[in-house]
Amino acid sequence: MREQWVRVLATGSSVPETVLTNFDLEKMVETNDEWITTRTGIKERRIATSQETTATFALQAAKEALCRAGVSPEEVDLIIVATVTPDMLFPSTACLLQRDLKAKNACAFDLEAGCTGFVYALAVAEKYLRGGGGRVALVVGAETLSKIVDWQDRSTCVLFGDGAGAVVLGLGEEPGILATYLGSDGNGASLLELPAGGSRFPASFETITQRLHYIKMNGNEVFKFAVRVMEEASNEVIHRAGVNIDEVDTFIPHQANIRIIQSAAKRLGITEEKIFVNVHKYGNTSSASVPIALDEAVQEGRVRKGDLVLLVGFGAGLTWGSALIRW
Ligand code: UT7
Repeated sequence: MREQWVRVLATGSSVPETVLTNFDLEKMVETNDEWITTRTGIKERRIATSQETTATFALQAAKEALCRAGVSPEEVDLIIVATVTPDMLFPSTACLLQRDLKAKNACAFDLEAGCTGFVYALAVAEKYLRGGGGRVALVVGAETLSKIVDWQDRSTCVLFGDGAGAVVLGLGEEPGILATYLGSDGNGASLLELPAGGSRFPASFETITQRLHYIKMNGNEVFKFAVRVMEEASNEVIHRAGVNIDEVDTFIPHQANIRIIQSAAKRLGITEEKIFVNVHKYGNTSSASVPIALDEAVQEGRVRKGDLVLLVGFGAGLTWGSALIRW
């Protein structure tokens, strides 16, 4: 028996119960529902409580995906948690997840590639399984961005939200992940960053008073970059898999801004009905965005067996990546 493909066995997701609407934000900063809706497509986002952490949502999403896959935690060989908001700098959130799942046979690590984190982790896990590292991988994208958002900065605080999505990967004979493609350009590092808390600016009275423990972003530059690399990453993975863009059944892009999604889709010639969008409900959940969208698309019947699914992400680093999956 030849097992040459890595397949998605099941998906799962979890978001906080607390909803923060654009109207709620109107009371917090000088903004309005009309601006946020027309510039981003976002209507509301989910926000973690002070008790909830990234690991909280990672665990719930992972449990759901494992349950749907019919896979027990002991069968998992590899756990990757993609996140820019780990519970702590170390140990990894993946190790906290490994502990809470009792996945005693798994190795576990976090992967940080900005909002492209999940697509990066998916590509790494696929190569790991194909290379003989094991039979089952759990790949999670999980974030609590509300904890690193500057709630006094209207240019960023309206954009982000919390949640997690997960996939269980396994080896199989039928086609699954057909191709992946990853890219980076550290020259754009300063366009989207969280300056303090690392070795450059360890936490100090100054870093706190200068609000350096919060997300800083050059929105306009990131916007232009995003549209360009979404097109490039989509075309590259399509090329690598030897298929045509017209064959894609569902396009699941990183949910940062409806205008970025629509511009990229237009440049690619992907029609409206093939695009999956949930940015209006959750805002930008960084690494969690693609797997939450994928899970919702599957649960809603938008992705069916045999369909060709295109995932594409972009984010801090700068990073970008894509994956083409035969479902
Ligand atoms: O996962 C990757 C993460 N990041 C992204 O994907 C973000 C990419 N960028 C974007 O999505 C857009 O650039 C934004 C949504 C962030 C901003 O949209 P924009 O159309 O590029 O607006 P802008 O930054 O050019 O701002 C236009 C105006 C400015 O006022 P002036 O200078 O024209 O008077 C801003 O001060 O809108 C103002 N503004 C706001 N007004 C009301 C900025 N934020 C707000 C706000 N409410 N929340």
